[in-house]
Amino acid sequence: MASLFHCTASKLSSAQPLRHALLRKNLAAISAFFSTSSSQSAIKNVMVIGSGLMGAGIAQVAAATNHQVTMVDQTNAILTKSMRSIEKSLDRVAKKKFKDDAEGGNKFVADTLGRITITTEPNTAIGDTDLLIEAIVENMRTKHKLFTDLDNAAPSHTIFASNTSSLPIREIASVTKRKDKFGGLHFFNPVPMMKLVEVVRTPETTDDTFDALFQFSKELGKVPVSCKDTPGFVVNRLLVPYIMEAVRMLERGDASARDIDTAMKLGAGYPMGPMELADYVGLDTTKFIIDGWHEEYPDVPLFEPSEILNDLVARNKLGRKTGEGFYKYD
Ligand SMILES: NC(=O)c1ccc[n+]([C@@H]2O[C@H](COP(=O)([O-])OP(=O)(O)OC[C@H]3O[C@@H](n4cnc5c(N)ncnc54)[C@H](O)[C@@H]3O)[C@@H](O)[C@H]2O)c1
Repeated sequence: MASLFHCTASKLSSAQPLRHALLRKNLAAISAFFSTSSSQSAIKNVMVIGSGLMGAGIAQVAAATNHQVTMVDQTNAILTKSMRSIEKSLDRVAKKKFKDDAEGGNKFVADTLGRITITTEPNTAIGDTDLLIEAIVENMRTKHKLFTDLDNAAPSHTIFASNTSSLPIREIASVTKRKDKFGGLHFFNPVPMMKLVEVVRTPETTDDTFDALFQFSKELGKVPVSCKDTPGFVVNRLLVPYIMEAVRMLERGDASARDIDTAMKLGAGYPMGPMELADYVGLDTTKFIIDGWHEEYPDVPLFEPSEILNDLVARNKLGRKTGEGFYKYD
């Protein structure tokens, strides 16, 4: 296409102003056509692997935005439970979205659920999948096993994406033969509420793959941002070291947990202080991320582990989910 444009333009002369203008108009129309068509996602059929906290949320928003979704997990019991939680979440959405239209709300819930199929056999169901999103446990070996199997079973056009929070996308993709069609789609919890998606590209991710992932995120009603495959992408790369600096402050005795939180809420305008945030995220998750980064980058002081954090995790004080972390919860 580039050489055609080059050839056409080189034939233009100043003696043909009208033809010149018409040609320019045609070229603009052609280029507008191509930019419009490339901004429309080719993604219709989506497979979501893992139907936990994140996978169920991703399946829900994809189905609610008219995509056909196949949701996969290890057992039918897990999948049935996930479908129930999606239904409850959709009921909440419908109550807000169709405040004075109960019938419209019921139809929205039924239609969305109708676009989700469940299975424990991804290899046999993957036939017409345009985009596969992995949201299983945060373990490289488990993800490698899954992607090796799926790479063999999936059609060549299928794009693969991982929702990992802390593992390098390039390393996850390394076991596949489609590194050019592999990227990160990092959603935030709870998926139906949180607007952001970090769209992550590795050096091998092609522009077409990246554009398809970016456009798909927009179709879900999200706001995508682009990020290279670096530890923590944007949000966690800033948030986790910030939490760890607060923990180190506590460790040194510079200030109490309560005072650190009050200071950041009232002085920096944050809705939650760093200790409250750590308890909300889960101290085990925070420790898992920082330990992984420390192992990979032992010279970065911001990634140093913390004794207080290690001790709380060892005593199963993991934050809100266990009733105690930096604070106690009823
Ligand atoms: N929880 C968060 O706030 C959050 C945010 C962003 C990204 N993530 C990432 O999303 C991924 C999933 O996290 P989560 O919180 O939803 O976990 P989760 O434990 O709630 O769900 C994981 C699900 O994957 C299933 N699973 C495990 N191995 C499987 C396999 N081989 N095949 C099919 N299903 C399998 C499990 O049965 C479970 O239902 C992780 O990579 C995590 O880092 C989590």
